[in-house]
Amino acid sequence: MTLLDGKKTAADIKSEIALEVIELKNKGKKTPHLAAVIVGNDGASLTYVNAKVKACDRVGFESTLIRLPETVTEEDLLNEINILNIDTDIDGFIVQLPLPKHIDEQKILMAVHPDKDVDGFHPTNVGKLTLNLPTFISATPFGILELLERYNVETVGKHVVVIGRSNIVGRPMSILLSQKRTKGNATVTLAHSRTQNLKELTLQADIIVAAIGIPEFLKADMVKDGVTIVDVGITRIADSRKKNGYRLAGDVHFESVAKKAAFITPVPGGVGPMTIAMLLKNTLLSVKRKNS
Ligand code: GUN
Repeated sequence: MTLLDGKKTAADIKSEIALEVIELKNKGKKTPHLAAVIVGNDGASLTYVNAKVKACDRVGFESTLIRLPETVTEEDLLNEINILNIDTDIDGFIVQLPLPKHIDEQKILMAVHPDKDVDGFHPTNVGKLTLNLPTFISATPFGILELLERYNVETVGKHVVVIGRSNIVGRPMSILLSQKRTKGNATVTLAHSRTQNLKELTLQADIIVAAIGIPEFLKADMVKDGVTIVDVGITRIADSRKKNGYRLAGDVHFESVAKKAAFITPVPGGVGPMTIAMLLKNTLLSVKRKNS
């Protein structure tokens, strides 16, 4: 069994990005600048956004964190987005999800200029992704493609079962892996909460991407020997033995499934760190596009 080590791979990618930033600066180009907007005080969201900002520091990017109160109006949030859209120093920005219920998420994502949408959530960028045109591929599926690439996991002609049809993970992942691309050309089944014969499908899968958000959902009796497992789930589970009172669990029962897997991502330290590295990569791509 080979661990698909996202922590190490993300560190490698960040080192590569840091070198490119030095090169840009040596050529007299501007420093890449990523901004993040966060609404409210959700602990997990704040942790993620802070990690994104910290990662900017490490690769030599500039970063701006805009914190807005839970009670912010949709109009005020749209104004903030407009300011970022026209600020020529900002190369890319993200609005951390989820947003409070009184704000229309789709309206917000559509307000982000597609050229600065380093999350790849704008319909224009989703459309380009679907057509296999150059775009910002959203961080989680992009990170998974990169992990499969760097560990030489074969996808051509393989049967991939993606579990979960979310707009930010399952759906784009299923599209990307079916496309004619280096890490693609797979036969893809997109399974979800209404799928009736899931175990029948997962038992046939050469590669499983688990993104349903149910901790330890995928068990050893649901996979075949030699399977590749990509675990996107990350849920806090109460655990009194831990100092902070919780442990992190993926969508895969790691201990048992790892025994049958050829490749498997750990949680934490698998897909998670890759998403941050790919967000930085998209920001760098935004700068390169402007420079070319
Ligand atoms: N919330 C969970 N994942 C993401 C992500 O990739 N981007 C943003 N903006 N919010 C998220």
